[in-house]
Amino acid sequence: MRTLLFVPADSERKLAKALEAGADALILDLEDSVAAERKAPARASALEFLQAHAGKHRLVVRVNALDSGLTDADLDGVVAGRPEAILLPKAEGGAAVIHLDAKLTAREAIHGLPEGSIKILALATETAAALFVAGTYRGSSPRLAGITWGAEDLSAELGAETNRDAAGRFTSPYMLARNLSLAAAASARVQAIDTVYADFRNLEGLRAEAEEARRDGFTAKMAIHPAQVPVINDVFTPTPEMIASAHAVVAAFAADPSAGVVGIGGVMYDRPHLTRAERLLARIKP
Ligand code: COA
Ligand code: MG
Repeated sequence: MRTLLFVPADSERKLAKALEAGADALILDLEDSVAAERKAPARASALEFLQAHAGKHRLVVRVNALDSGLTDADLDGVVAGRPEAILLPKAEGGAAVIHLDAKLTAREAIHGLPEGSIKILALATETAAALFVAGTYRGSSPRLAGITWGAEDLSAELGAETNRDAAGRFTSPYMLARNLSLAAAASARVQAIDTVYADFRNLEGLRAEAEEARRDGFTAKMAIHPAQVPVINDVFTPTPEMIASAHAVVAAFAADPSAGVVGIGGVMYDRPHLTRAERLLARIKP
């Protein structure tokens, strides 16, 4: 998936609108965009929405963090709706994924769902401690399907005045967080998903940030507003030229399986290029 659109789960209006936004997946949010006294109605409307649309749309639920005291009630409220994945905020490494995995296993049993059917996406950089365990996701759980990152909670915890400079680019502590999440995802062999772009009227800034993310290895980006979806879809959809070039690299190595390196059109391609080409083709498989 290329675009995951956040929707506050207590907003029936936004839930309805989100279905038409063209996002590959929706993230029904029970955390930061829902006020404390609205958590219970948000769980109920998330469940209703899941029951109406799961299977036809890819639906993820963001629960509250493991230390919030709310995670169990969130999971009790939504697992029956069979979300594709749970997005875990303020995740601190593989241990947090293992913790959530156990909670999901119990609920899948209660609801008669196949064990392991609900995946996990980790928001891996929202606390200072999380940065130091970003390397521990690998092998934590077969449920882990993606890693993403966040700069808002981290900046609050670091005591920063801002997390972007005057030109709108992330300052260095947040680039560190971003880069750690990218390496965490690569080491765990899961999808690297870029963070949200909060300035939702600035579609040029969004495009520039998404293009930098794609350049560096992210293959998706989260959105907070429907207007962001077409931009992100466009940036993360491989172009026909990229697909043709990937096919050419795969074909060249297939023609000479013992080759470590091939030349195509006067350019050298070696094994890492083959890996990259295979990954790109895997992404566009229906
Ligand atoms: N999903 C679905 N629909 C959305 C939406 C979203 N994330 N964000 C906005 N819309 C809808 C609005 O309801 C509005 O429709 P309406 O006029 O028919 O009611 C339309 O899109 C245009 O919205 P706009 O007026 O431009 O923005 P807004 O001021 O209503 O909302 C936000 C701005 C930021 C509050 C809103 O985009 C939002 O709630 N985003 C998600 C926030 C979130 O989940 N944060 C947690 C992760 S960081
Ligand atoms: Mg947050």
